[in-house]
Amino acid sequence: MPSHAPGPPAAVLCGLAGWVPSRVVTNDELAERLDTDDAWIRTRTGIRRRHVVEPGQATSDLAVESGRRALRHAGVGSVDAVIVTTTTPDRPCPATAPTVAARLGLAGAAAFDVGAVCTGFVYGLATAVGLITSSVAERVLLIGADTYSTIVDPLDRANAIIFGDGAGAVVLRAGTAREPGAVGRFDLGSDGAHEDLITVAAGGSRQRSAGGEVRLRDRHFAMRGNEVYRHAVTRMAESARATLRRAGWTIDDVDHFVPHQANLRILHSVADDLGLPRERCVANVDCVGNTGAASIPLALADAAARQAIRPGDRLLLTAFGGGLTWGSCLLAWPELPVPAHPYDRGEEPTP
Ligand code: UT7
Repeated sequence: MPSHAPGPPAAVLCGLAGWVPSRVVTNDELAERLDTDDAWIRTRTGIRRRHVVEPGQATSDLAVESGRRALRHAGVGSVDAVIVTTTTPDRPCPATAPTVAARLGLAGAAAFDVGAVCTGFVYGLATAVGLITSSVAERVLLIGADTYSTIVDPLDRANAIIFGDGAGAVVLRAGTAREPGAVGRFDLGSDGAHEDLITVAAGGSRQRSAGGEVRLRDRHFAMRGNEVYRHAVTRMAESARATLRRAGWTIDDVDHFVPHQANLRILHSVADDLGLPRERCVANVDCVGNTGAASIPLALADAAARQAIRPGDRLLLTAFGGGLTWGSCLLAWPELPVPAHPYDRGEEPTP
């Protein structure tokens, strides 16, 4: 094939945006109601604040805000499919995506949710790429949105300190594999033998068919943090390596590692394991906490707005979450207008 050939069909990133609710919760505010303190939270997680929804605000509200901004950033008025990836849908039924699509004036487009907990954005990307490369869709809006504050027990000090609410969205269009912004290679995986490490026990068919009283704690998010931590480091490093291998890249080819923002210590451990200098690890967990399926697009929107990521830079995205699930993918950053910053970073630098 001549070198100027456009390459096989691919999905190309052409717009992105992040959005967080305006209410900020600092570590000091959490310490007023929980047996914790700012120093513990910063040292163990790297988090100094997070954004949370106001009463009555739901996941679709955040998804709509980020989706509208991503469409504007891409300069497009319509898409063929809307995918929302979330662990905190507005309701168990129906899916959140059709509501979001209708509110964005996109009624008529295919719309469905993807669930892979904190790996949802990478699974959603793979799904969007599949729709585009199989010619089912020309353009897809993918939104990662979560409101963990609605499922975490506010008195659970281990989890209440980590999670924040937010949404991030990308627009993908049909293009070719050699264009900057073309998404691929992927690695996706799961291990359901560890399903009990991250759960919301009540609200599904397992609990409903068993009948009986539902304990309040079963309605809340539960995580065996320490075990999850160990799996996260191992699986993220393995997934990153598998993806690089498939693409014929080495770690030196990666300009920016954009991991799911679980906990700064996890991100640094994975970077160290991969032999990647920590400065190449994109981190915004200090400002927004762990925002679940929103975390990678929010981190991308933050870095793009700060112009820390530039056209042509090569990115490795890696996520890990409940299921267990994990996944990675590669892309070269396209030429895009600088997006608006999704939140005020405050005065302190990124750790
Ligand atoms: O998003 C997808 C997946 N999620 C993750 O990747 C999160 C992974 N896990 C984590 O980030 C960490 O495990 C946590 C931040 C949740 C917890 O940090 P840790 O360093 O693993 O703490 P630990 O659970 O081992 O607890 C150590 C100690 C315990 O006290 P004792 O038993 O040693 O006396 C906890 O009770 O720290 C205590 N502790 C706290 N102390 C002050 C737990 N939470 C807090 C807290 N403030 N907020």
